[in-house]
Amino acid sequence: MHRILRHTLILAIVSTTVFTGSVSASTRQTPNNQVDTIQNSDAGDIQRRQWLPQRGVCGTEEPSSQLKAAHKRLSLTEYRHAEGGRVDSNASRATADSLPRINVDTWFHVVSTSDQVNLVTNLMIASQFMYLQQAYQNASIHYNLMGVDRSINDTWARNGDSAAMKRTLRKGSYGTLNIYFQTNLEVSDPEGASSRLYAPFGHHHQHHGQNFDERDVSSSPSSPNLLGFCTLPNPDINSTSSIDDYFNDGCNILASTMPGGSIEHYNRGGTTVHEVGHWHGLLHTFQGQTCSAGADGDYISDTPQQSTPTEGCPASKDSCPDLPGMDAISNFMDYSSDDCYQSFTTEQAMRMRSMWSTMREGK
Ligand SMILES: *[C@@H]1O[C@H](CO)[C@@H](O)[C@H](O)[C@H]1NC(C)=O
Ligand SMILES: *[C@@H]1O[C@H](CO)[C@@H](O)[C@H](O)[C@H]1NC(C)=O
Ligand SMILES: *[C@@H]1O[C@H](CO)[C@@H](O)[C@H](O)[C@H]1NC(C)=O
Ligand SMILES: *[C@@H]1O[C@H](CO)[C@@H](O)[C@H](O)[C@H]1NC(C)=O
Ligand SMILES: [Zn+2]
Repeated sequence: MHRILRHTLILAIVSTTVFTGSVSASTRQTPNNQVDTIQNSDAGDIQRRQWLPQRGVCGTEEPSSQLKAAHKRLSLTEYRHAEGGRVDSNASRATADSLPRINVDTWFHVVSTSDQVNLVTNLMIASQFMYLQQAYQNASIHYNLMGVDRSINDTWARNGDSAAMKRTLRKGSYGTLNIYFQTNLEVSDPEGASSRLYAPFGHHHQHHGQNFDERDVSSSPSSPNLLGFCTLPNPDINSTSSIDDYFNDGCNILASTMPGGSIEHYNRGGTTVHEVGHWHGLLHTFQGQTCSAGADGDYISDTPQQSTPTEGCPASKDSCPDLPGMDAISNFMDYSSDDCYQSFTTEQAMRMRSMWSTMREGK
């Protein structure tokens, strides 16, 4: 299966000035191909990285072997359809017009500290929702905003006692998207967060950086800000599962990444679009972090193989020069800054749709 070459020339402003640091690169290229981990980095790396604004290490957990198997299975199904004509050559032009619409009931939960009550404005909420809607339009995934609630709780705003927060605020079933916009999202309680976030996946041994989409812009090294993280679909959840099995399902987003937020280059709402991509089952375009030609990567055939996450918004990048295709730096599932983000590929759109029907619809 050869990879379709796909590269978009990026004309966006290249913001090299804030991305001059390179110390963090090694922390993301861990030797054991574990994306999203900083388990092999020493404390020094962590300390230095905190001063570099960048998408950094993603908070979403490493995919379980079950989810990877599902990706493999779905990719074969999609190709069988392609051969059978169900996804014909028109697929590359698939638009909202030609695909049945998927409707995702969605709740926004804004969680603020008592002194940041006015940080998230109604305009930011509306703009974030519009950007989310737009980004998934080509996949014909439509979000129904069921409601927006606001909570003031200093503990929850920094994601302390997140189990209590989610048990209190989460709405709907496993097919309902719940997004928590927290003003002070941080890893305040890594051990607790680990067991709460990963309990269904059993990845406790890797709990640290891998579970947080971390782009640190904090001025305080002791309380790094995270950009966000989401739960991936859990293939074990079925229509009879109880809320106790999935109360933690959803997305945690640092509120200042919303459009109009305070984090330069990361305040167009791209973090939410990226994270919701994980909620729909997508992995990073650099998943596996290797140029090995036979690697599974992100299990998506039309994203070129990529061995490193992208920092900022470079004019172009090719981390696997011996393989076809440039890095998909404009893809929502890379780590590029919001300036770069533009689209999902057709195959990613198809995968999100098949993940929806197998993992979340009707559950
Ligand atoms: C492309 O789609 C159009 C409209 O859905 C259809 O009529 C046409 O046959 C398709 N083309 C191919 C090559 O399948
Ligand atoms: C704030 O969070 C704490 C910790 O979970 C909880 O005990 C408390 O009830 C919450 N306060 C409100 C008003 O929800
Ligand atoms: C459904 O999932 C629950 C756990 O979420 C599990 O206990 C139960 O056995 C599952 N049922 C089926 C039919 O797989
Ligand atoms: C949607 O598809 C159009 C046409 O291919 C493309 O120009 C646009 O960038 C896509 N938008 C997104 C958000 O994927
Ligand atoms: Zn991510």
